[in-house]
Amino acid sequence: MRLVSHGAGGGPDVLSIGEGPVPTPGPQDVLIAVHYAGVNGPDIVQRKGRYPPPPGASPVLGLEVSGSIATVGADVTRWKVGDTVCALTPGGGYAEFCVAPAAHCLPLPGGFDPERAAAIPENFFTVWTNLIERARLAKGESVLIHGGSGGIGYSAIQVAKAWGATVIATVGNAEKETFARSVGADHVINYRTQDFVEEARRIVDARGIDVILDMVGGDYFKKNLGLLALEGRLVQIAFQQGSKVAELDLMPVMMRRLTITGSTLRAQPAQNKARIAEGLLTYLWPLFATGKLRVVIHRVFGFEDVVAAHVMMEAGQHLGKLLLRLR
Ligand SMILES: NC(=O)c1ccc[n+]([C@@H]2O[C@H](COP(=O)([O-])OP(=O)(O)OC[C@H]3O[C@@H](n4cnc5c(N)ncnc54)[C@H](OP(=O)(O)O)[C@@H]3O)[C@@H](O)[C@H]2O)c1
Repeated sequence: MRLVSHGAGGGPDVLSIGEGPVPTPGPQDVLIAVHYAGVNGPDIVQRKGRYPPPPGASPVLGLEVSGSIATVGADVTRWKVGDTVCALTPGGGYAEFCVAPAAHCLPLPGGFDPERAAAIPENFFTVWTNLIERARLAKGESVLIHGGSGGIGYSAIQVAKAWGATVIATVGNAEKETFARSVGADHVINYRTQDFVEEARRIVDARGIDVILDMVGGDYFKKNLGLLALEGRLVQIAFQQGSKVAELDLMPVMMRRLTITGSTLRAQPAQNKARIAEGLLTYLWPLFATGKLRVVIHRVFGFEDVVAAHVMMEAGQHLGKLLLRLR
């Protein structure tokens, strides 16, 4: 089969179309003939050699796909050959065929085609487990979502809105501001022209913010802690500005009974991801089917244009999702 190779790793130019054997599914896996694969932030980090695949996972990039099931493992009863699914994969999505655990596959939501469905898994698995399971976001609470125009950010805004929260998002320019509002953010802060701490305080008054979803880290960490309300929760899903913080005063954690948590999706045991998939199916799939949740696809690239897809991802000017079309 054809696949995207990232060789020894490096800049986008290391990506090339190569060939490799079609993977063999284990007893609880399925083999998917991939139609579309999502391009995600973690793919960039893996391509650079800083995010090795977990043991046993394909070394090929690609954490989510849509396509039709080509083979089912010996113990799989839920799916049959020919079913169309979208799936969270442990790797290997940038290829004509990809293996995924059967429990990490989902049917396409009502009215969705494979293109739109491919844009769901990585973002919505991540948002569900961090915002709803981990941070326990509840109706009527306030949430601050950093990086509100990226794949995770625009998904988080929608889920938080659907949960009945007041949503504040940070973005880096006016176009992204309009986009974040268009997917439901109640308040949008341009962190390049405004002080997000001051603005967020103005919006929520002295009460503070109940939940913060952060992918920036660095000097945002202390600022986020300072903004949290009594019993507030900070969820860290990336550290784009670094994970080291100097001279940190943790007194607010005790005095305001804060929770600092975080997670990475890929490293989690298969049963955790299966539980998250069930959560999506039960709670989010009906919202996709009625249009309350939607995917926004910024651009679909041909398989051969994978370099351009990564250049665009790294430039960071996209609004929503980037996809690869495999067939
Ligand atoms: N923990 C997990 O399980 C998990 C899962 C998936 C992704 N991630 C991570 O989450 C991050 C987002 O992923 P994605 O796929 O949504 O990528 P993406 O579409 O490229 O989004 C990245 C966002 O970060 C914002 N950003 C970058 N630098 C920033 C800064 N200094 N201050 C504020 N915002 C900044 C960008 O917006 P502006 O241009 O407006 O700054 C952009 O919206 C990545 O770092 C990825 O590795 C983590």
